[in-house]
Amino acid sequence: MAKTVSFHLQKGGVGKTTISGTFACQSALDGFRTLLIDVDPQGNASSWFLTETPKYELADVIQGKCFVSEAIVPVPSVPNLYILPTFGIGGMLKTYSETKLAEEPYVLQDLVSEVSKDFDHIVLDLSPGLGRLEKAAIIASDEVVTPLTPEVFSLDGLEIFIDELKRLKKNLRSSVKHSVVVINSFDVRIKQHRNIYSAASEGSYKVVVVPVDPVFRKAQEANTAPQLFREHGRGLKEKTAESVRLLSKYIW
Ligand SMILES: Nc1ncnc2c1ncn2[C@@H]1O[C@H](COP(=O)(O)OP(=O)(O)O)[C@@H](O)[C@H]1O
Ligand SMILES: [Mg+2]
Repeated sequence: MAKTVSFHLQKGGVGKTTISGTFACQSALDGFRTLLIDVDPQGNASSWFLTETPKYELADVIQGKCFVSEAIVPVPSVPNLYILPTFGIGGMLKTYSETKLAEEPYVLQDLVSEVSKDFDHIVLDLSPGLGRLEKAAIIASDEVVTPLTPEVFSLDGLEIFIDELKRLKKNLRSSVKHSVVVINSFDVRIKQHRNIYSAASEGSYKVVVVPVDPVFRKAQEANTAPQLFREHGRGLKEKTAESVRLLSKYIW
């Protein structure tokens, strides 16, 4: 059975797709059969890893238009990495989540358990907000990781999420773990960043910091893993590589 992890924060632009995608790549490059599920109606993870639009997407699977095995495609540039995509254009997933999903809160949980035997690790990239779709994805997961940027508003977001998660676990009888926080675009020289780090470390959270690294954007443009991207001989910063390894150690 695959361990399933989702990356979520209500706020947009904090690095959910970047961190979850890079983390999924690391798992695949470490030799684990890894599935990345694009649960964001904008489909950013899918346009990162795929250059051609496949026949089916996640919304087709949950609406019973195809088998899940028909919609999962290999990521051409990363061995062992597979993706269950979402097409940003067309917005089928958005429409589905706004209409049908209320009656089917366990639809993603069922999907994950169906493919669980075929993979070692499953990673879910979520959209901002905490609506039905995000809730369905969180209860389909063994663990939820919170990526945030080092600003006060992100910490507020974390507190709101902790509160919402309590309710979600009770109402939908989920035992999802929440023990890891990633501070993205972290710079130890900045006092505010250090303060946010201290605040996030309070309680029992394991905190992983990821520096600003131009390789993320470049790898996204080149449709590949940041770990495999090289330009003039340079790739991922050593600090970034270390952070991804630490995150893998905490989660898997
Ligand atoms: N550590 C980082 N260093 C440099 N650029 C980053 C970093 N994290 C994210 N980015 C860039 O910031 C933008 C937003 O990140 P993204 O992962 O799409 O956020 P989210 O999924 O939370 O909306 C992307 O263009 C991405 O390339
Ligand atoms: Mg995203």
